[in-house]
Amino acid sequence: MDPDHDSRFKNHMTKNVKKILTDALEALQKAEDAAVVQEVFRAYAGRKGALRLLLQEMKSLPEDKRRAFGKEVNDALGVLEEAIEHKLVSLGGVPDMKQKPIDVTLPASRRAHGRPGLHILTVVRREIEEIFRSMGFSVAVGPEVEDAHHNFDALNIPADHPARDLWDTFWLENKDGHHTPGALLMRTHTSPVQVRYMEASQPPFRIIAPGEVYRYEATDASHEFQFGQIEGLMVDRRDSSHPVTMHTLLSVLTQFFERFFKKTIALRVRPSYFPFVEPGIEVDMSCVLCDGTGTVSGRQGLPAGRQGCSLCSQTGWLEMLGAGMVHPNVFKAVGYNPEELQGFAFGFGIDRLANLKYGVPDVRLYRSGDLRFLESFRT
Ligand code: PHE
Repeated sequence: MDPDHDSRFKNHMTKNVKKILTDALEALQKAEDAAVVQEVFRAYAGRKGALRLLLQEMKSLPEDKRRAFGKEVNDALGVLEEAIEHKLVSLGGVPDMKQKPIDVTLPASRRAHGRPGLHILTVVRREIEEIFRSMGFSVAVGPEVEDAHHNFDALNIPADHPARDLWDTFWLENKDGHHTPGALLMRTHTSPVQVRYMEASQPPFRIIAPGEVYRYEATDASHEFQFGQIEGLMVDRRDSSHPVTMHTLLSVLTQFFERFFKKTIALRVRPSYFPFVEPGIEVDMSCVLCDGTGTVSGRQGLPAGRQGCSLCSQTGWLEMLGAGMVHPNVFKAVGYNPEELQGFAFGFGIDRLANLKYGVPDVRLYRSGDLRFLESFRT
């Protein structure tokens, strides 16, 4: 073989690189818009562009020349790409040509403005309201920023009473940033709406009061410093043909839970203490997962038989709410005569009810604003 063949061949290739680069730069100079620039890019530097094809031809070069030639082509590519970028900037700047060409006729990507439909807690609250409405209850509301009188004192929780500590409170400062001890707070429960409603109305009545409440406490999967509650209050005269009794309370609650969970449920009552009711009770509901049995059937793949229910920790019961008969001191605080009246009050958490119905494992998700969580509900 002609000993000079290799170098002549290489020279030929090198000339080619130079020629292609000159052509490319010339074409680029003439380009008057980004589309033409894009064409130049495609014809010379693109995947099947002239310069890249040269790289393929490189295989026919002897090994010791390949390196130098490869560098030459890559340098040419570098020069061209830089020139293309400059050109694009001078034309007003456009897309990265190494990416796929951009089809400007495609619809723009969707911008998230929240999601259509209601928040899952709103859905649950409305469902709760609907069930109580159908039982003759009306819906009352009150302020989230409360005074200590309505949140505590009128509910038989005096300032110096240790029961006040049961509700860890966010106290508010006045406009000048001064702390006014004991004046304003974020309501710690919806019970102050009982007081406000009674101050403005006369029995008989039955109301529920849904709303947000706030507690100064550490958060975990089952505690948030803000959560939703539903207060219930039903009052009538003692000498009414249907006085409001503990039995009324339990039938109302049973009906409510059965309609909310769409299954037969049982309630269990334990004595408890809330300053604004006497007697005070805590109400448990038969577990909605194991129906009060404490066990669930084993999942496939696991040993046959039943396993302990994790929702109720195998007790068969779920703690649901606090309740009781309205304390005479609360009636007195709103100017009612406790001798003539009697009624019940209850309060429960909306978040907890939503957890049970929708299997949400962590209450902190509700107010996290995380669209992935919100969109997982088809509401
Ligand atoms: N307000 C009480 C709480 O938040 C619940 C409750 C309401 C208890 C009405 C009894 C009667 O803990």
